[in-house]
Parts: sequence; structure tokens; C-alpha cells
Amino acid sequence: MKTILETKNICKKYQGQPVIEDINVKLHEGELVGLLGMSGSGKSTLFNVISGLLIPEDGHVYLDEAEITGRTGIISYMQQKDLLLPHKTVIDNVSLPLILQGVKRNQARSQAEKLLPLFGLEGTGEKYPAQLSGGMRQRAALLRTHLFGSHVTLLDEPFSALDALTKRKMHQWYLELMSQLKMSTLFITHDIDEAILLSDRIYIMTGIPGRIEHELIINEDKPRHLEFNTTVSFVNYKKQILEWLHL
Ligand SMILES: Nc1ncnc2c1ncn2[C@@H]1O[C@H](COP(=O)(O)OP(=O)(O)OP(=O)(O)O)[C@@H](O)[C@H]1O
Ligand SMILES: [Mg+2]
Repeated sequence: MKTILETKNICKKYQGQPVIEDINVKLHEGELVGLLGMSGSGKSTLFNVISGLLIPEDGHVYLDEAEITGRTGIISYMQQKDLLLPHKTVIDNVSLPLILQGVKRNQARSQAEKLLPLFGLEGTGEKYPAQLSGGMRQRAALLRTHLFGSHVTLLDEPFSALDALTKRKMHQWYLELMSQLKMSTLFITHDIDEAILLSDRIYIMTGIPGRIEHELIINEDKPRHLEFNTTVSFVNYKKQILEWLHL
């Protein structure tokens, strides 16, 4: 499998204190990889380094084998608090990345419009974010990230703000979306079930400073179905993770 994103020995400090240390992760073409860890283990910090927003004290980031350490605007990145602009309509919000890339407004809007149904947003283009449900807002944020257009996507806790039932629906939707779009995605979660359900592989980050302590391959057929989380193999993956996290 072709490696498209790789970090080598990333270390990042805040005020001289190491927050993440010696982080080596890989993302292969078409993979959905989960990064699971306790609050404060440095997951968002790692994404800020990969996306170029933060410069690491040590280590390198490679995209398609070319070094991109400290370079922004190359990877599609949905940050943990990725709020839609409240005074812009859904269509203007989601087409923003295209406009920033120099696409004309009308063309950007019609390109985004075509994708609204796939993201469960049909008929919402002229609404404002406050008029949408939490799940719809999250799908709009995902569409905006998708329209950024990179072949690699980072998602920081894409479903964590949702209630349990909405989250389950979003998982179902996302599994279907993933089987249609050829995306390579690294996503952060602290929800163990979500990590197992969605991921091809899971990195487990623990400690202060945060390190990648374990890697688990979820060797299950795709597309997955929500019923996967009631199977014996699902429970076995979960037991392994709980043991590693000392929970
Ligand atoms: N700008 C900053 N300045 C100083 N310390 C920071 C800064 N941002 C984060 N930290 C610290 O770095 C550590 C890791 O933070 P980070 O946000 O990466 O964790 P996280 O794993 O994403 O946590 P969560 O699951 O709660 O989102 C924390 O101790 C946090 O307080
Ligand atoms: Mg975080």
C-alpha cells in the first residue's frame, strides 16, 4: 500500500515542556486511521503540526514523500472547534475553500451545490448555520473540509459534539460516504467504539508527553455496518484497547 502521509520523530514543546514526543504515524492511500487517546495527550497538537500550523521542535512531516513540515494549506483539516461562519449561508460557508483557491463565486457555489445531497444537506444551501440541526452543521463542516480538495484529510473529533443517537446516524452516513469517496483520512477520537467501527487502523496515544504506544489493525470487511459493534470480534478489539489504556 502506498504511504501518502508520514511523520518522523515529531516532538513539540509548549514553554519548554514536551507535549508530544517521537511521534511516527503513517497514512496509506484510501485508509481511514483513528488516533485515540485521553484528553490532553497531545492529539490536536499533533494535527496542528501535521497541518503546518505549528512548527515542531524536532521531526518531519512528509506528503507523498516530499517534506511539508511547517507548510499550511496543503492538507484538508477540520479543527476541533470548526465553527461555520454564522452570518454566511450554508452554501457560502461550504464553498469558501474553493473561493480562497481562486474559483469564481458562482462556479464555487454550483460545485458545492452538487455535493449537498451526498452530505445530507439537500435544500439547506440558503439557510444559515443556526437554522440547522447539530448533525447537519457537522456535515456542512465536513463538506467544507472535503471541498478544500486535498487528497489527505485530518478530522479532529468530527462527531464528538453530537448526542448518542445523532452520532450513530452520522456513523452510518459516514461509513456509506467513505465507501463512495476515495479519501485518505486521519481522525481523532476519544470514543473507543467509534474508533473501532470506523478505522482500518488505530493508533493509541498515551502519557505526558504523549506518545504513540500501540497500533491496532481492524481487520474487517468494508463497507462496515453498524451491526459490527455487536459482534464478538468487535468486543475483542475493545478489550485489547481497554487493557492498553489501563481502563
Ligand atoms: N497553545 C498552547 N499553549 C500551551 N499549552 C498548550 C497549548 N495548546 C495545548 N496545550 C497543552 O498541551 C497538551 C496537549 O493538548 P492537546 O490539545 O493537543 O490535547 P488533546 O489530546 O487534543 O486533548 P483533547 O482530547 O482534550 O482535545 C495539554 O496539556 C494542553 O494544555
Ligand atoms: Mg484535542
